[in-house]
Amino acid sequence: MSAAPAARAFDVPPARAAEFAFEHRDHVAIAEIVYADSGILLPDGKMQLVYGRLAKRLRIRGLTRFSEYVALLGTDPAERIEAIDALTTNHTKFFREDHHFDHFRDTVWPGLTRRLETGGRVRMWSAACSSGEEPYTLAMTMLGRDKANATRLGRQDCQILATDLSPTILDQARAGTYPASVSQGVPADLRNLWLVRRGDLVEVHPACKALVAYRPLNLLRDWPMKQMFDVIFCRNVMIYFDEPTKATLQARLADQLAPGGHLYIGHSERLSPSVAPRFESIGRTMYRKLGA
Ligand SMILES: C[S@@+](CC[C@H](N)C(=O)[O-])C[C@H]1O[C@@H](n2cnc3c(N)ncnc32)[C@H](O)[C@@H]1O
Repeated sequence: MSAAPAARAFDVPPARAAEFAFEHRDHVAIAEIVYADSGILLPDGKMQLVYGRLAKRLRIRGLTRFSEYVALLGTDPAERIEAIDALTTNHTKFFREDHHFDHFRDTVWPGLTRRLETGGRVRMWSAACSSGEEPYTLAMTMLGRDKANATRLGRQDCQILATDLSPTILDQARAGTYPASVSQGVPADLRNLWLVRRGDLVEVHPACKALVAYRPLNLLRDWPMKQMFDVIFCRNVMIYFDEPTKATLQARLADQLAPGGHLYIGHSERLSPSVAPRFESIGRTMYRKLGA
């Protein structure tokens, strides 16, 4: 990783109106900590956002100034986790960028199904899974329109690893409970089978949950996984990283992908020039690793 970007002109919340004193140097200090721990960039233009998202933490900790909070971050690792949790953007939804799931269903899943039927193993990874909609969408796509698939897949050696930096968001993902309104994004036939209505909420069907294993993982740190993956979804997280961090992460994702395996990235993300030659581009933000 390169050093955090240098401070530039900025937009400060008006000092008199603000509940907590927040100086530019506080923002720079927070940005450096967040960058070092997560790779997420917080340029000066994000100063208002940082204030808004961390004000609650200052209230909880009984502080009056951001400079006190910066000092606390230096001595309290648990508070650093809280701060990064508050500053990450967790926006996601079921069937987000649905062309990825169409491609997976039509082109990738049939071959993986054949492997499973002959006793083989299939491993998929939703890297930076947020509150679980992405891995559950993958699970619903695999299960398809036949309820009997749940029993069959449940007996086969098939698993989706779903990881995220944020422990809070992983708790939400494991619960698999969402406002009923979000299920509108799920095709009706799959919704009827794999989302269970509970008043104003929907809960993901146990057969979907059983396919997904949630683990905390910082993409910038060591990865404990020994196995190779057949499919990796790593979407809408690299947008928060700088170019060297993206290139390093993408090279590691390529190392972790089996030859012929598939990588799906977010709609505004691109493969770095150093990594792109390891893949064949097979559609919009979809790649197949060479060497099968
Ligand atoms: C915008 S969400 C993307 C969710 C999903 N992949 C999608 O495309 O809908 C970004 C997620 O990346 C996670 N994240 C940010 N930095 C990370 C890091 N260094 N390691 C692992 N996860 C990270 C955040 O906690 C957040 O849940």
